[in-house]
Amino acid sequence: MAKVIYPGTFDPVTNGHIDIVNRAVELFDEVIVTVAKNPSKTSLFTVEERVEMLRESLKEFKSVHIDWFDGLVVDHAKQVGAIGIIRGLRAVSDFEYEFQMALMNRKLAGDITTILLMPHARYTYLNSTIVRNLAQFHGDVSEFVPPIVLKKLKEKFKY
Ligand code: COA
Repeated sequence: MAKVIYPGTFDPVTNGHIDIVNRAVELFDEVIVTVAKNPSKTSLFTVEERVEMLRESLKEFKSVHIDWFDGLVVDHAKQVGAIGIIRGLRAVSDFEYEFQMALMNRKLAGDITTILLMPHARYTYLNSTIVRNLAQFHGDVSEFVPPIVLKKLKEKFKY
């Protein structure tokens, strides 16, 4: 049974992340989407809110589970019995960071493999910061995020 984790900040989850999950479920028996508490980033949504939005957005996937972690990503992978770490590669600009992280994670835990998946080209320019910025100024983000995220953004920014 091949289980993988897909870690990220998910502040908030976007359709680009969902695209990666769609691809991962085709390849692995179980995918755990895991929210990093990540103290190095100031987040708009709490960990609990991010987990809730992921649960709602991914509820139709029976082999997907959501949790969160604090600390090293490889420690969490070991804790849940995952054989690999999924990461998304949107453009060449992501590569250096992902490559460095994959090699460091391999050094920390040689038995955990990083798998880089490419989302659809339409998500190349998308990230959570752009979504937050647009929503903050009441821009239309409906084509970039699942309905639950749109609802939460509208509540947060009162529009
Ligand atoms: N579609 C849309 N956006 C995407 C995307 C996709 N498919 N894949 C990534 N992104 C965006 C995210 O929305 C995020 O945007 P933002 O910075 O504007 O918020 C950005 O790309 C970064 O992606 P994310 O996956 O959230 O990565 P991160 O750099 O925040 O790192 C962890 C998250 C969990 C991997 C990292 O913090 C970590 O490993 N933490 C644990 C500590 C650790 O183990 N360190 C050792 C590793 S070397």
